[in-house]
Amino acid sequence: MTTPPTASASSPLGAAPPVQVDEASGTVLLRTADSAYVLRADRAAGTVRHVHWGDPLPLADAVLLPVWAEHDNSFAGRWDGVEEYPHEGGARFGVPALEVRFADGSSPVEATVQDMALLADDHLVIRLHDRVRPLSWHLHYRVPAGGDMIERWAEFTHTGTGDDGDILLLRHDCAHWPMPRRSGWRLGAVHGGWSAEGRLERSRLAVGETALGSRRGHTSHHANPWVSLDPGDTGEEHGDVWTVALAASGSWRITAQRTAAGRVSVAVGEGHEGTELRLAPGQSHRTAVSLGLHTAHGFGAAGRAFHRHLREHVLPHPRELRPVLYNSWEATSFQVSEDNQIALARHAAELGAELFVLDDGWFGGREDDRSGLGDWTPHPGRFPRGLRPLADEVRRLGMAFGLWVEPEMVNADSELYRRHPDWVLHTPDRAATELRNQLVLDFSRPEVTTWALETLRRLVEEASVDFLKWDFNRSFTEAGARGSGPDARRVHVEHARGLYHVLDQLRSSFPQLRIEACAGGGGRVDPGILHRTDQVWTSDNTDAVDRLTIQHGFSQVYPACVMSAWVTDSPNPLTGRSVPLRFRFHSAMAGVLGLGGDLTRWTAAERAEAAELIRAYKDIRPVVQHGRQFRLLAPEEGPLTAVQYVAEDGDRVVVLVWRPSTGFGPEPPPLRLRGLPPEARYRDEDTGLERSGATLTGFGLPLPALPPGDCASALVRLRRVEPGAGAPVGEPSASAVLPGGPG
Ligand code: GLA
Repeated sequence: MTTPPTASASSPLGAAPPVQVDEASGTVLLRTADSAYVLRADRAAGTVRHVHWGDPLPLADAVLLPVWAEHDNSFAGRWDGVEEYPHEGGARFGVPALEVRFADGSSPVEATVQDMALLADDHLVIRLHDRVRPLSWHLHYRVPAGGDMIERWAEFTHTGTGDDGDILLLRHDCAHWPMPRRSGWRLGAVHGGWSAEGRLERSRLAVGETALGSRRGHTSHHANPWVSLDPGDTGEEHGDVWTVALAASGSWRITAQRTAAGRVSVAVGEGHEGTELRLAPGQSHRTAVSLGLHTAHGFGAAGRAFHRHLREHVLPHPRELRPVLYNSWEATSFQVSEDNQIALARHAAELGAELFVLDDGWFGGREDDRSGLGDWTPHPGRFPRGLRPLADEVRRLGMAFGLWVEPEMVNADSELYRRHPDWVLHTPDRAATELRNQLVLDFSRPEVTTWALETLRRLVEEASVDFLKWDFNRSFTEAGARGSGPDARRVHVEHARGLYHVLDQLRSSFPQLRIEACAGGGGRVDPGILHRTDQVWTSDNTDAVDRLTIQHGFSQVYPACVMSAWVTDSPNPLTGRSVPLRFRFHSAMAGVLGLGGDLTRWTAAERAEAAELIRAYKDIRPVVQHGRQFRLLAPEEGPLTAVQYVAEDGDRVVVLVWRPSTGFGPEPPPLRLRGLPPEARYRDEDTGLERSGATLTGFGLPLPALPPGDCASALVRLRRVEPGAGAPVGEPSASAVLPGGPG
C-alpha cells in the first residue's frame, strides 16, 4: 500500500485534514466539516469494508472500530451491505455495485486491493483489480472543502489485450453507501409525474430491495435521483439524516437494501437494469458522481447542506442573481409572431422584467407540435425578418433576449428528419413510437452532437441570444445505440453524456450565455445537469397552490436560486383554479421569479400591483436566492405553509406564508423562525416592530395579517437593527451580476 501523508491521530478534530489514512490497519477516515466516514481495506480478503458514517471521531478511534460482520453460516452473506463497493463473486448475496460478464461468459469477480493513494489532500483512490481477469476498478472519494458532502465515483478499465475479448459491465454503480447500525429506518424520496413533480414521501424501509429509478432516458418527473434515510424519529430540524444523490441526467437506478440481518445500504448508479456497457481491451469507463451527506440536524439541515454544495461546487455561476424573466408560452403558445411578442415585451419591461424569453413556435414550419422540430431557423411566416428585430427591441426595452430550443428532438415532418431519418433512436425493424408527435435524436452519436453544436452556435450568434430555455419533451422508446451489440442500451447513459458535451462546448463558445434546463417542466433536474445550466423550469404546472407542494419537494435537495417559477393568468390554464395575483406572486417569489401570463389582458390595476410585487422581489432576491432556507411549515400538513430565508450575512430575513384554503378553526400559533442569533434584534420593515432573535425563534413571529378567504398570503421582511454584529453565516457577499443583456 502506498503511504499517503497522514495526520497525526491526535489532531484536534476541527483542524483535521479531509482524508486521513492509517496504513497499518488499512483504515481511512474522511473528515467533512461536521461528520466522519470510515472504511477499511483488507488486502488479504480483497475487500474494502465500511466502518462508520456519522458524527466526527478521531483516526485513533477509527482504527479500533469493528466492522459489522454477520453471523457466519453456510447461508450467510457475511459482508452483505457492509462493503464499500460489493461485486458479484464469493459469498455475496446482496445488491452488487459491480457485475460483469467476461468474454468466456463467466461473471464472478475475485478482487485484489492493489493500493490506496491520495491524488490530492481531499481525494482518495482505492485501486482494485481482478486476481486473474483483465479488469481493474478504482474507487474515488473526494471531500469538497467546507461542507459535509462526500463525492464518490468509480472507473473501470479493461487491462487486457485483443485475445481477452470484450468485458461487459452489467452493473457499474457510482457508489454503494452502507448506513450505520440503527433500527426503524425510513426512506425518503420524491415521486410524481408531469406537472406533479416533487411529491415527498417518507416511509418505513422494507426488508428487501427498494428500487427507484428511471427507464426513460432522462432523470424523469416520476422520481428524482436522491434518497434520504433516517432512523424514523428525525424531524425537519433535528435528528440524523443520510442523503445520497446521483449527478447524472440519463436513466438511473438507486436501490435501497435492508437485509434480514438489519443492514441498510444504498447503491447508486447510471442506467436501469440491463443497461450494459462493453469494454474492449484498453478501454475505460468512468461513472458519474454520487453525492453523500450526513447531518445530525434534520431534513432542513440536509437540504441546506445540499443547497450549499450545489452553489459552491456544482453551479457554474452561483454568485449571480437570476433575472426576473418573462416567458411567452402560456400567453401565445405556438402562435408567436414578431408583433405579439413585441407587445408582450413592452408590458413585461414596464413591469420590471429583465429577460424576455420567446418560447416554442418561432422556427421552421412549426404550426403546432406536429412539425418543425429540428429546423432551427426562424419561421418565415412569423418572423419574416428573422429574430434580430425582436431581439433588438427587447434589448432596447432594457431586457436580455432568450429563446426556447429543443435540440435533442425532431418531428418526422421536418427537413432534418427528411435528411437524416437514421439519426433518431430506433430499433431498425420496430415501429418508432412518437410521443408528442416527436422522436429523439441519438446524442450518443458524434455526427448528431456536431450538428447540434453547429446549429446552436449559429443561432446564438445570429440572434445574439443571451439565454436558452433548453427543453426535452418526451421519454425514450425503442432506444438502442446504433449497430447491434450486447450493450445497445448504453444509449440510456451515453445520450446524456452527448448532451453534456454540447452544453459544455456551447458554454465555452459563449461564456455570457445562460441556460435554463427544462424537460416538460421538471423532467430533468439533477446535480449533473445543474453543473452546466443556471436554473431549471421546475414544472409545467403554474398553479400557485400546486406549486407549494412541488417546490417543497424540489427544495429537499435543490436551492431556490435554480427554481424557476412564473406568475401566470388566473384561472390557471391547467387546473382552472382562480388565485389572487398577490398569492401567485408570493408563491413564485420563493424561487426565481418569472412572468408567464398574457400581460396584454391584465388590467391596469393588476399591472400596477405586479410592478410593485416585482420591486419587492428584487429587494428580497439576494436573500431568497443566496440565503439559507428554512421550511417552517410544510404544505398539506396544516392550514399554513411557510418558508423562511436568512441572508448570507444574517442581516435580513424573509418569510413567505401561504394559506391556500380557509376554514373555521383555532388561530395557528406564531411562526417559530430558525437560524437567528438570540441576541440580534430584527425590525419588521413594514410594521417597524422590533424583536430579538431569541423571541423570534423561541416564541415565534406572530402571524402576519392574512386577507380573509382562500389563497391568502403574506411576505414579511425583517432587517437586523445593528447590521454586521456577529453574522451567523460566514460566506462572502453576492455580486449582483445579471447575465447577458443590458443592466
Ligand atoms: C414544454 C415546456 C413548456 C413549453 C413547451 C413548449 O412543455 O415545459 O414550458 O416550453 O414545452 O412546447
